Amino acid sequence: MIQNSKPLAQRMRYIEPFHVMELLARARTLEAQGRSVVHMEIGEPDFATPDPVCEAGIEALKKGELFYTPALGLPELRTAIARFYKTRYGVEVSAERIIVTSGSSGALLLALAVLVDPDARVLLADPGYPANRHFVRMLNGDPVGVPVGPDSLYQLTPELLEHHWDDRTVAALVATPSNPTGTLSNPADIARMADYASRHRGALIVDEIYHGLVYEGEAATALSCSDEIFVINSFSKYFNMTGWRLGWMVAPERYVREIDKLSQNVYLAAPTPSQFAALAALQPETLAVLDARREEFRRRRDYLVPALRKLGFRVPYMPQGAFYVYADCSALTPDSFAFAGNLLEQAGVAITPGVDFGRHRCDEHVRFAYTRPVAVLEEGVRRIAAFLEEDR
Ligand SMILES: Cc1ncc(COP(=O)(O)O)c(C=O)c1O
Repeated sequence: MIQNSKPLAQRMRYIEPFHVMELLARARTLEAQGRSVVHMEIGEPDFATPDPVCEAGIEALKKGELFYTPALGLPELRTAIARFYKTRYGVEVSAERIIVTSGSSGALLLALAVLVDPDARVLLADPGYPANRHFVRMLNGDPVGVPVGPDSLYQLTPELLEHHWDDRTVAALVATPSNPTGTLSNPADIARMADYASRHRGALIVDEIYHGLVYEGEAATALSCSDEIFVINSFSKYFNMTGWRLGWMVAPERYVREIDKLSQNVYLAAPTPSQFAALAALQPETLAVLDARREEFRRRRDYLVPALRKLGFRVPYMPQGAFYVYADCSALTPDSFAFAGNLLEQAGVAITPGVDFGRHRCDEHVRFAYTRPVAVLEEGVRRIAAFLEEDR
């Protein structure tokens, strides 16, 4: 019998939209109607890609460098990334272990795809970056959100890892600095978690995509702890290249060939002009521009956190990196989702509700992104103050 309904994979039941994208669409509609909106929801830097990077991209286009690269990436770029680990972190990494990907999103998917069988469990911090649990679902695995709070700086710890690890667990994923909390995991914890995972036939994946945007000292890379960790990074955030869709992974040696096979099949190669452009991103002159921009992010953080606290949001720690503040709004509202919606409609301020980052106390939290200049953040804070005043 022919059925009317269209086929839809079971896994789609578990794939949720990014609510912030819907909020952003609503904000754009309001703006098209002439309303002004202060954007504190956007998870990408407002800075343009640095000039030398754009010029290198244009040069690649002009020269016709528009053929596929090897699936593992342009050899010169893999070498340049290896050199970057040496100069920035003092860590020796063989270029052979570096895999250039289509955004770090591509790297996260490939890393999980070589590890996760159907029903295998992957431990993730809740709150955390939501795409990860959906990647695990795409592989018919079982993402396990481990509730974390201020006591562990919203990070998985060796104790939590041991407590939640079982025979079906194949991996744990840590993001440091984290989205949405901006907090760091310490290297001793990373080393212990990597050790525990490998002793239990599992793997640790460490997402370092917000490296370079750390405000108190430099974060150490997980590569200094062990060669067995999958380390993920990206040209999106610190390098201000979100739309170029370029990231990378450093994989344990024995996985490189497996990932090579997968990337050949999944997307053939990362975008070629972006790979040529990224060579310029790793040059010392560009890094100096990016480091100066980091100081601007620090100024924004230093303005925003005390301002939010004054309004009645609880921010129990100073975020150490990324460009987010994960704020407890339970003193102001029992429902962060409705709060974010009302704030947009009534006050013209867009923020992200906690539900985008997991289930653990999500109704009590919202995320602010400081991806706008201080003057704009000040206007946002004024509007929120007036909105809260009216609500009283
Ligand atoms: C923690 C984290 N990891 C990975 C990504 C994916 O970024 P991209 O694919 O642009 O590298 C994001 C994007 O916001 C993120 O916040």
